[in-house]
Amino acid sequence: MRSLLWLAVVGLAVAEDGLAAWLRYARVPGASRHLGKLPSAVVTLNATKGYPVHTAGQELVDGIGGLFGKKLTVAKSKPKGTTATVGTVSAYVDKNPSAAKGLPDLVEDGFYLKISKGNVLILGQNERGALYGAFHYLSVIAQGNVSDFTLTSNPDAPVRWVNQWDNMQDGGTHGSVERGYGGDSIFFWDGHIREDLTRAGQYARLLASIGINAVVANNVNANASILTPENMDGLARIADVFRPYGVQLGVSLNFAAPQLLGGLDTFDPLDKAVVNWWQGIADNLYKRIPDMAGYLVKANSEGQPGPMTYNRTLADGANLFARTLQPHGGIILFRAFVYDHRSLNQTLDWKADRANAAVDYFDGLDDKFEDNVVIQIKYGPIDFQVREPVSPLFTHLRRTGATVELQITQEYLGQQAHVVYLAPMWKELLDFDLRVDSKPSTLKSIVSGKRFGQKLTGYAGVVNVGTNTTWLGSHLAMSNLYAYGKLAWDPEQTSTGILKEWTTLTFGHDKLVHDVITKISMESWPAYEDYSGNLGIQTLTDILLGHYGPNPGSQDGNPWGQWTRADDDTIGMDRTVWNGTGFAGQYPPEIAAMYENIETTPDNLLLWFHHVPYTQKLKSGKTVIQHFYDAHYKGSATAQTFVTLWEKLKGRIDKERYEHVLFRLIYQAGHSLVWRDSVNQFYFNKSGIPDELGRVGNHKYRIEAEEMELKGYKSYRVSPFEAASGYHCVVTETNSTVGTATTKLKVPSGKYDLAVNYYDMALGNSTWELFVDRKLVGKWKGDLEYELGRAPSPYIDGQTAARKTFRGVRVKKGSELKVVGRPDGLEPAPIDYISVLPEGTVN
Ligand code: GCU
Repeated sequence: MRSLLWLAVVGLAVAEDGLAAWLRYARVPGASRHLGKLPSAVVTLNATKGYPVHTAGQELVDGIGGLFGKKLTVAKSKPKGTTATVGTVSAYVDKNPSAAKGLPDLVEDGFYLKISKGNVLILGQNERGALYGAFHYLSVIAQGNVSDFTLTSNPDAPVRWVNQWDNMQDGGTHGSVERGYGGDSIFFWDGHIREDLTRAGQYARLLASIGINAVVANNVNANASILTPENMDGLARIADVFRPYGVQLGVSLNFAAPQLLGGLDTFDPLDKAVVNWWQGIADNLYKRIPDMAGYLVKANSEGQPGPMTYNRTLADGANLFARTLQPHGGIILFRAFVYDHRSLNQTLDWKADRANAAVDYFDGLDDKFEDNVVIQIKYGPIDFQVREPVSPLFTHLRRTGATVELQITQEYLGQQAHVVYLAPMWKELLDFDLRVDSKPSTLKSIVSGKRFGQKLTGYAGVVNVGTNTTWLGSHLAMSNLYAYGKLAWDPEQTSTGILKEWTTLTFGHDKLVHDVITKISMESWPAYEDYSGNLGIQTLTDILLGHYGPNPGSQDGNPWGQWTRADDDTIGMDRTVWNGTGFAGQYPPEIAAMYENIETTPDNLLLWFHHVPYTQKLKSGKTVIQHFYDAHYKGSATAQTFVTLWEKLKGRIDKERYEHVLFRLIYQAGHSLVWRDSVNQFYFNKSGIPDELGRVGNHKYRIEAEEMELKGYKSYRVSPFEAASGYHCVVTETNSTVGTATTKLKVPSGKYDLAVNYYDMALGNSTWELFVDRKLVGKWKGDLEYELGRAPSPYIDGQTAARKTFRGVRVKKGSELKVVGRPDGLEPAPIDYISVLPEGTVN
């Protein structure tokens, strides 16, 4: 009983599944001390149920109730005692004309807060702003700051959208959510809009609390059937659950819909019948959803139809939609991710370069777009890689506004199975000065519209939440969603400041919890860059399959254009003007000059811009190849520390989230070693240059499975070769044969960490058992395809390679070590190797 009471007091009793994310409204430490400084009643001005001011009132009641245990009443006019008054500026001034003078200027969605002796005034420029103000106030007090302050907060940019990549239909290569690792779509099922949209409403609440004002619910690879009358009705239901939170709905379009759905024989954007068809669509959508935000269009990219099919320009394509939206006040985000993935030829053309595509296609169109067109540009010229230079297209659009497209879903960045806190990367990009006309021109100043004076600019974030209660599949990954909203509102905020807020709201006030999450998060992007692809070579994931595990060879020899041009002696893309693809020349002169020259190109982008020998010296004095080796060792070593750091939090946060995160960190630690060894082995084999420290290819603690005594198992050559230690693993002889791999240990008697590297394919759930001297050390199942949510793979490769570690196992010299593998389905219980590690050693 006593311990139960204690748990209730410190707020640890409730298991948490992540659904409430940062809006948990968990009791603030010492809550009762603050009661006098809080309002006693909420007054909402001109509130209508189903609209943001009403929601704001409700959130204040729930928030202050949860955070402080104080029950507020909701009143229409001024009650006795302290109040929280929330509404729009105009509603407030209507009631208090004399107050107008004292109020600051607010831009659309902005808010004003005045907290004084328990009285709280929350005014929004519009209803949405009022709700943002309420969420901001709640966030401040949830962080334990219950004191007087006044704040005027305006968003840095008007477009703060998220793009879901949700498919209407499950199945296909990408399942329910393209590049989503948190379960099925919360919007669509079986070709229709879900009946139960509870999660969509909860999602809108989360987004509103971080200032996001629109969601495009369906995938950029759009299915034309989103526009059937039935599905338009469904979209209207989504808009209905968004509306209380001031989140508008956007719709992603398939350019060929007039043909695919409308029965026309063309989708030429200049054809009258096509124009009329699209006008009918816009009118029908707005009849159902009068406050619809607008459209998102991916055209002429990766097999999607577009205006170029009819030799029309991208501007012709974008304007077609823009004009149909104009009578309704909608806008169109037209993606700049346009490139030809079919005919680029690496061998025939040294100057071919996918990175050039966006500027090549959009140059000269700047003054051709309608005013309600915004060009949505991925942060880098290729595709959400771990390191890319800022896309030069941002400097080519001066009249037409741009949004920067960031990816919250970690497609190339560990797919939420690896922790990678992305705010530091985004900050670096946003702070990058592109020096247009030799004047300060940071990316953030361009996407805020300040640098060139456009009205419609901002941010688009690809977020692939799913039905999983963690939303993204990982609790720690939610800091990325939070940071995205915060930076889109105010890019001056710091990565650590945002993280601190998020951690308090998500996990509470414990200092150790903060220290650990800060350390892990801030080290995570550099570590991931180190062990995936550094020096600007790109992420080195398997680009032909899951975009997840290592496969450096997959980058080259295909028309996808994510080339490294690695051969036996040299590596890197020559993007110089003098000798290469000319990409460097797409930047304004100062930046172009910096990238043109090896001496002035930062090391972390060296191989992005230059083709050099492996022996090229970096500014650090190391050679490229030695840097590769060292960085892969360093990054993966850092990932090991995440586990021990997190373990310090046992008992300090709820068990449910503690275990969930721990599971992923252990997995990441193991997979980072797979990354390290695959990439290092690959370049060692290519270059033939040994690691100065003798680590690459030498694993003295390892016992290769194929060298053990095998029964029911057979040796199997893995492809790509570097995905297996010694290029081989073992697999069971048939789908129903139990395999055993046995060996006698030669190590001195003592305690060891035993690590088994195995492959967990998505073709079944094999089980493995590890024995020492016939005593079971542990047993596990190959079910990561369900547990992790990352892209499932049917192959034995870098995507499926995983590690299971048993710590502190006592063995004797001569002990018998045995692994028993039971295949399941088509998964043949593959094992790569076993490491017998003196405690604490990593290898
Ligand atoms: C990447 C991603 C695709 C996506 C595309 C896009 O290539 O892998 O799944 O459709 O980007 O942004 O359109």
